[in-house]
Amino acid sequence: MGLEWKKDKGKVEPGGLNHISRRQFLSYATLGLGAIISALIATPLVGSLVSPLVQKKKAEAEWRELGKIEDFKAGKPKIVQWTTAKLEGGVMETAPRAVWVIKKDDDDFTVFNSRCTHLNCAYSWKLKGESHQTAYGSAMPDKDHFFCPCHDGIFDLDGAVLGGPPPRPLDTLPVKIDDGRLFTSYRDFRAGIPEKVEI
Ligand code: FES
Repeated sequence: MGLEWKKDKGKVEPGGLNHISRRQFLSYATLGLGAIISALIATPLVGSLVSPLVQKKKAEAEWRELGKIEDFKAGKPKIVQWTTAKLEGGVMETAPRAVWVIKKDDDDFTVFNSRCTHLNCAYSWKLKGESHQTAYGSAMPDKDHFFCPCHDGIFDLDGAVLGGPPPRPLDTLPVKIDDGRLFTSYRDFRAGIPEKVEI
């Protein structure tokens, strides 16, 4: 069964799907060609948009040394800060990074992303009874806690929300200990939502 050209402007004979007019054939061929050309143009464009994101995630996911395990004291959160730098389109881009390290034992560490889960503000560790400014005059808990000054977000040592608007606990990061040294794999998460979603 082959194609049979018809001159009657698109009329298809009953029972003959292979009977199409020249105009229909040209129309289908033009549409098909257009789709192929669009795909060829879009593929490298999408690749160029996605590739930097993938590369960024890959780079951030590398293990970062935070210090020797004896550099941290049990029950006393310590902030560790550094700056990342990478060449992007011929320009060196830098970004500040910070994590809070909580040591429970020599082989039991928790590392939090230092951004508040509400709207990404930086929070700090406050001792029980320590006086400090609050955004809304919120009452502070009767124990040591993490405090976010933007909207009085309060978290306990384990990252659980004690007060304020944060929708979820502090975001934990992967941890490993190798040869007496502590490492984390830095990543960021979407703020303002109850779920922990990596970005
Ligand atoms: S950003 Fe931390 S409480 Fe709003």
